[in-house]
Amino acid sequence: QTPRLSDRFGRSIDYLRVSVTDRCDLRCTYCMPSGFKGYEDPPDWLSFDEIERVVAAFARLGTSRVRLTGGEPLTRRGLPQLAQRLAVLPGLRDLSLSTNGTRLARYADELYAAGVSRVNVSLDTLDRDCMKGITGRDCLPSVLAGLQAAKAAGLAPIKINMVAMLGVNDAEIDAVAAFCIEQHFVLRLIEVMPMGETGRNTAYLNLGPVQERLARRFDLRPQALEIGGGPARYWSTADGSAAIGYITPMSQHFCATCNRVRLSVDGTLYLCLGQEQQYPLRPLLRGGASDAELEAAIRAAIELKPEQHDFGRQPEKIIRFMSQTGG
Ligand code: GTP
Ligand code: 5AD
Ligand code: SF4
Repeated sequence: QTPRLSDRFGRSIDYLRVSVTDRCDLRCTYCMPSGFKGYEDPPDWLSFDEIERVVAAFARLGTSRVRLTGGEPLTRRGLPQLAQRLAVLPGLRDLSLSTNGTRLARYADELYAAGVSRVNVSLDTLDRDCMKGITGRDCLPSVLAGLQAAKAAGLAPIKINMVAMLGVNDAEIDAVAAFCIEQHFVLRLIEVMPMGETGRNTAYLNLGPVQERLARRFDLRPQALEIGGGPARYWSTADGSAAIGYITPMSQHFCATCNRVRLSVDGTLYLCLGQEQQYPLRPLLRGGASDAELEAAIRAAIELKPEQHDFGRQPEKIIRFMSQTGG
């Protein structure tokens, strides 16, 4: 039995986020600069065979959770077929997807049939114009249709990611919270991280006071149970029928319990969202490395994982955009 992955700080790494494209049909202000076309030419992109090979190696090393991300993962042609291949890998028990929702109406049934069990969907506002302002496209109707399709398809739980931005959408938090509670979606409020020049120009909102306000309004209390494998801290109603999660990388980071690394579409492992440490796997994949060599490389990469991010001290440090590692 191969020993499971753990890093220098004793954290066990069992959650892999796989970015399948750095392209997106939207241009969210906190994620991608406008007019942006993409970083790499497709020849540098890992094929589905290559992605499957890396994920299988992680699964042999104890990874049980895989999240497909982008850019927008549903812009990658054939994505449900990739999901189907990953879902059956031994050891994986949680295959999920983070999406902007614009194509969910088209793909929800196929994703569910392929073995994706749940989706996290970006929704920063319920105001059509505000949504257009944030994403660069009049996409609210398609995202709302996508959410209903996801629900009808049986994807559960459905989580809503709302990046809270001072002066942009902070006035709409309560409306989105009420909508999520009514629809049985799990809202997560997120402090914007200063990634690339984009996230940096957006003022983050400390979610501490928001948490207190929403607790009073919806009668929520802190909940020990985790919903998923990520960094959100959840508050829920006494009967558990509604929950709101808080993702607070800026005001109260969660690096001590970090369990994840990220694979970008060009085959680079990023060891932390808020640090530059990385390890290229593509040369091994294309250079005839054996499975044992690939596993050894993954172990060597995990050794590079830093203790925590540097967003607070050095916000200008990370020059890559969020769309490159998929959050
Ligand atoms: P589950 O809890 O398994 O549902 O997934 P998740 O919340 O980790 O995934 P999702 O893609 O929905 O991410 C939600 C937000 O959390 C995004 O803003 C991510 O950038 C942020 N996030 C996820 N993982 C990390 C992390 O390790 N560090 C930091 N700083 N932010 C993260
Ligand atoms: N800071 C925090 N969260 C972000 N996301 C994208 N860019 C940022 C940022 N700069 C979130 C989106 C998406 C999730 C995968 O990452 O809400 O749902
Ligand atoms: Fe993990 Fe880095 Fe995110 Fe902290 S910032 S939780 S160490 S990936």
